[in-house]
Amino acid sequence: MKSTFRLYSFIFACLTFLLAQSFAYAGNYVKSPHKVFLFAYATEKNDGHNGLHFAWSQDKVNWHAIGPEHSFLKCDYGTWGGEKRMLTPTVILGADGLYHCLWSVNEEDNILAHAASKDLVHWKRQTYIPVMPNGGRVYNPEVKLVNGEYIVTWFNGDKLYTSKTTDFKKFSAAQTGNNPKSDAVQQFRINGNMEQGTVWEAEWELVDGLIRAMEVAKYRKANNSATAKSDSALFVGLKPVVAEIKINTANKKKISNLLTGVFFEDINYAADGGLYAELVQNRGFEYTTADKRGKDKNWNERTAWSGDFRIDSLKGIHANNPHFAVINNGSITNSGFDGIPVKANEKYNFSIFAKGAKCSVKLIDASGAVLAQADIKPGTSWKKYTAVLKPVKTVADARLEITTQGETAVDMVSLFPEKTFKNRKNGLRADLAQTVADIHPKFVRFPGGCVAHGNGLDNIYRWKNTVGPLEARKPMRNIWNYHQSMGLGYFEYFQFCEDIGAQPVPVLAAGVPCQNSSVGGAGQQFGIPIEHMDEYVQDVLDLIEYANGSANTPWGKVRAEAGHPKPFNLKYIGIGNEDLITDVFEERYTMIVNAVRKKYPDVTIIGTVGPFFEGADYDEGWAIADKLQLPMVDEHYYESPGWFINNQSFYDAYDRSKSKVYLGEYASWGNSLYNALAEALYLTAIERNGDVVSMASYAPMLAREGHTQWNPDLIYFNGTEVKPTVNYFVQKLYGENPGDSYVNSTAIIRETNTEAVKRIGVSTTVDAATGDVIIKLVNLLPVAVKPAISTEGITATGTATYTVLTEKPESKSGKPVTTQLAVQDAFKKELPPYSFTVIRLKTK
Ligand code: AHR
Repeated sequence: MKSTFRLYSFIFACLTFLLAQSFAYAGNYVKSPHKVFLFAYATEKNDGHNGLHFAWSQDKVNWHAIGPEHSFLKCDYGTWGGEKRMLTPTVILGADGLYHCLWSVNEEDNILAHAASKDLVHWKRQTYIPVMPNGGRVYNPEVKLVNGEYIVTWFNGDKLYTSKTTDFKKFSAAQTGNNPKSDAVQQFRINGNMEQGTVWEAEWELVDGLIRAMEVAKYRKANNSATAKSDSALFVGLKPVVAEIKINTANKKKISNLLTGVFFEDINYAADGGLYAELVQNRGFEYTTADKRGKDKNWNERTAWSGDFRIDSLKGIHANNPHFAVINNGSITNSGFDGIPVKANEKYNFSIFAKGAKCSVKLIDASGAVLAQADIKPGTSWKKYTAVLKPVKTVADARLEITTQGETAVDMVSLFPEKTFKNRKNGLRADLAQTVADIHPKFVRFPGGCVAHGNGLDNIYRWKNTVGPLEARKPMRNIWNYHQSMGLGYFEYFQFCEDIGAQPVPVLAAGVPCQNSSVGGAGQQFGIPIEHMDEYVQDVLDLIEYANGSANTPWGKVRAEAGHPKPFNLKYIGIGNEDLITDVFEERYTMIVNAVRKKYPDVTIIGTVGPFFEGADYDEGWAIADKLQLPMVDEHYYESPGWFINNQSFYDAYDRSKSKVYLGEYASWGNSLYNALAEALYLTAIERNGDVVSMASYAPMLAREGHTQWNPDLIYFNGTEVKPTVNYFVQKLYGENPGDSYVNSTAIIRETNTEAVKRIGVSTTVDAATGDVIIKLVNLLPVAVKPAISTEGITATGTATYTVLTEKPESKSGKPVTTQLAVQDAFKKELPPYSFTVIRLKTK
C-alpha cells in the first residue's frame, strides 16, 4: 500500500512537473516558422565596455550568441577609453519602423542615451538626454509603445520615473511612475553568463542580417591582418611574377594638383620643443598643473627651471601671461627641452623681460663651464632686453643660467638660434622645417587634429589667442596633456606655408570640443552655448579676413603689423575635426558653414565625417555634407597595412557629383617598410581617384623622442637629430613626383594566387609644368616582379630618373636610391621584392 502510494505520488509529481514545463514552454515558442527570439543585451563582462550584442533562440533556452567578438553598437558618451560604457540597454521596434535603443551610460550621470537603426547593424547618431530634472543617475530604462507614443521608464535611486516621447529627443517632464515591468526585459544565460536585455520575436531575415554582418566583420578582420611574417605562408612557393603594365595616355583625366600635403598637429611635442625653434622651455612660467589635468604635481610654473626663485603674478607683463620669476641675489637655470643644443660659434638670440637688479646670462655645459655670456641691466619697470650669445663649444645639452646681483623679476626668457628656417624671427627649427619642406607638400593642415577642437569647451583652439606680440599670446593646456605656449601661432603657420609654397589649410572647431573630452563635461559634445555662437562664428570669419583682407581691414591690419602686409591668400578652411555627429554638433556646424559661405563664397569649406571610414559618424557626416552641399569633407582612418592593401577600390565608386574628399589623416599602424609600402600602394589608388580625392595627408607628422603620445609618426627627432621614417620617404616620393592628370594604367598579373594580384600597384601621372610622365610601381610581394611595360601615346626617349625604395619588409630604415637609366632599360628593370619604384620620363 505504501509503495503504491509512493508510485502514485511519483507519477503525480512527474505529471505536475511536465505540466509546469509545458506551461513554461508555451510562451517559449515563436508564432511563425520564419521567426526566432532575438535577445539584445550588453555583456555583464567588461563592465559595459562591450557594447550591444545579440543572441537568438528558438526556445529561449538554447541561445546562439551572434559574435560575440564584435558589438553592434558602442556608446560614445564620456572620455576616450574607460568611460565609454553601455549599461542596461533596451531595444524596441518603433512606430517609424526603426529599432530604438536606450541605455544608461554609467553609475552617476543623468543621461538617457539613444540611437536608432533600421536593421540593428547600421546605427544613426547618438543622443544623450538629461531626463532627470534634478540630476542623478538614470538606469534600467524600459520602453513601451502605446498609441504611437513611447512611454519610457527608468530608475533614479530606488525610484521609478516615467516620461513620454514621440521622437526620443524631446521628453515630457519626468514623473514618479508605475511598475515598469515589461515582458520584454528578461534574463537569459548566454555563453555561460546571465545577461539582462530585451527579448522579442523577430523575423529570421533580421537575424540573418546580423549574422552576416558579424561574419563580414570577422572575415575583414582576418583578411586585414596581413604582416610581413604572415606573407611567407601566404605566398609560399610563389615564383617571380610577370606584370603586364599598360599605360595609355589617350585615356587621361584631370586630377587634383594638391594631392599630397602634410598634417601638422601639436602632438608629441611637435610645436614647443619641436618645429618651433625656441630653446627655453616654459619661458613664460605659465606651465600649470592643469596642463596635465592635475596628474603631475611637478608640472607647474617652475617646470624646466631650477635654482632659488619664487613665482609671482602681481603686475605681470600681460594679463595673458601673468606669472613671472623673482630671483633674489641668486641664479636660475633652464634645462630646455631635454637640454639646450648649441653649436660652436653660431649666434643665439637671447631675449628677456626684466626689471630690478643687474643680471648676467650664461650658456653653460653639464660641468658648469661657461660657453657664452652677456650682461643685462634692467630698469625699474618691465622692459624687453636682448643679447647675442655665441657658444665656444658644440653641446647637445647646455643650460641657460641667469644670475642676479639683487632682486630681479624675469619673464619671457627666450633663446633662439639665429639660423631659423628661412632666417625668420620667432622662427622654426631649420633642420626640422627643411625635412618637412623636402616632402614638397602641396598644403599644410594645422593646428590639428584634436588640438583644433580641444579637450572641453575652454580648450577649443582660438586662433586670435595665437597672434600678436608673444608676451600677449594666451598659452593653453594641450589636449595631449602638456603646454602650448602659442609661440608657434597662426601667423607662423601661414608664414611657413608661404615659405614652402604650400596651401594653408587651417582647421577650426565646429563649435564643439573633442567627443572624448574629459574637462568640463563627460566627453559628449556639449557645444558652445548657442548664445555665444555668433561670437564664435565671427572669429571664424575674422580668420579669413586676417589671412586675406587688405591691410585696411581690422584683421588684415593685425597681419600687416606682424610684418606681412600682403594677404596670405587662404583658399581652404576646415570646419570640425572628426567630431561625433550629434544634433548639438550639426546645429553649430551649419551656422558656421552658412556664415562662411555667405561672406566668403570663394573659400572652399572642408567639412568633417568622423574618425573612421565607416560607421555612424561617417554616414551622418556625409548626409550633412550632402544636405549642405559642402565642396569637400575630411575623412580619417588609421588602419592595418592589410586594410590598405584590401581597400584600394575604396574611392572607385565614390559619387563624383558629391563633395570631394580630403583624406586628412591616415596611416597604417607601423613604421616598417611593409607599412610604408601599404601606404604607397594605397596612394596609387588615391592618384587613380585624384578626381574625387583632392588632398591627402599622413598623420601625425612630428614626434619628439621620449615625448610621444601617438605612434607611428612620420618624422621622429630629438634636440639635435631628425629621423625621417621609411613612411616619410614614400610621402616624399609622392610629393616630389606629383601630376595634374592621371593616365589610365593597369597591371595585369597572370597569377593564380589572388592575394598576389592586389600586391602590385601602378599609377601614371603627367606633370603639366614639366610635361614629365611619372610611373609609380609598388611591389608588396616577397618575390621580384618582372614588368612588361607598354606605353601608348608616350614618346619617351633618352634617360629616365629611376628611384627605388626597398629593404627587408620589417626594416624601419629604408631610403630611396636614384639613378639615371635609358628609358628602355628602366622599363625592363625588375621590381625588387617589397619595393616602391618611381620612373620619371622626360617627354619634352
Ligand atoms: O593624428 C592624431 C589624432 O588622431 C588627431 O589629433 C585626431 O584627429 C585623430 O584622432
